[in-house]
Amino acid sequence: MQNNPRIQEQLEAWVKDNKGHAILGTTAQYIPALGKEDPSQLGICMVDDEGNYYCAGDTTKEFTLQSISKALTFIALSRHYGLDFVLERVDVEPTGEAFNSIIPFEIHRPNKPFNPFINAGAITISALLPGQTSQKKYEFLLQFLEELVGHPLELDKEVYDSEWKSSHRNRALAYYLKEAKFLDIEVEEALDIYIRQCSIKVSTKDLALIGLIIAYDGFNPITKVKHFSEEIAQVAKVLMVTCGMYNSSGNFAAHVGIPAKSGVSGGIMAAVPPKLHSQTYEFRAGAGIGVYGPAIDVQGNSAAGTMMLRQISKEWDLSIF
Ligand code: DON
Repeated sequence: MQNNPRIQEQLEAWVKDNKGHAILGTTAQYIPALGKEDPSQLGICMVDDEGNYYCAGDTTKEFTLQSISKALTFIALSRHYGLDFVLERVDVEPTGEAFNSIIPFEIHRPNKPFNPFINAGAITISALLPGQTSQKKYEFLLQFLEELVGHPLELDKEVYDSEWKSSHRNRALAYYLKEAKFLDIEVEEALDIYIRQCSIKVSTKDLALIGLIIAYDGFNPITKVKHFSEEIAQVAKVLMVTCGMYNSSGNFAAHVGIPAKSGVSGGIMAAVPPKLHSQTYEFRAGAGIGVYGPAIDVQGNSAAGTMMLRQISKEWDLSIF
């Protein structure tokens, strides 16, 4: 199928409709390099199963993965060691607390972190990436991501440095993890790999493509390459639905209904699985969506990006529920 100009027009109109919602958030002030971004930006890229890209708004700008990387580390690690190995070390339960909270850990003293998307779980699984050093672990993850997007990716050194200097809470969290014997490597090494993975630069186009691969259960319908198993993709989507938007995950599921993962840089990666339409019984292909809107709400999700996805999902009936 050819590129459809009506989809392009719609996305452009929806970016305009939703740009104003950026005032409902602010850029991530706790990481100074993210805090200085222009909060009014909003962009979206969508890719279909035939490789047609539709991009509207501020889509030339690259930004860092931040928490979106947590979903990708989970997948990379599960592919390497098997899902059972990973799920023995991290659970799949939402916490109802902020992504960087120490509370669930301190109060419940679980035998493993609640899920790989809160910082405690993410630092735990990043430390498990294969390789003796954080550099080797980083290279392993980078190679996996480059395999998915099909081109080289880079670290945003300014964001990395900024986060390294301001990571007091994550450092505290990593010490808790070390005390609980969840970390086999040194705290500073674990923090280094975690912050590096958060600082990898991507575009909305990259996020759309990875979202498409997750939507198709690890299969890239454009290149016909199978990157990871259905089993891994299913658990990744469950995590995206239940924990992907942190404490807005319930609302996001109700009003958007698309498995998604957000980051404090303002990125959202969404995976729209193929669907049998409930009214017409027509089969509709899946898609991947990448959003960028650096003004984030109190939960840490792009304010305008979330509102735009809400509108898109409603208008195009994209909810999986
Ligand atoms: O650990 C942090 O605070 C950041 N590197 C990532 C947090 C994040 O993206 C949470 N997402 N919404």
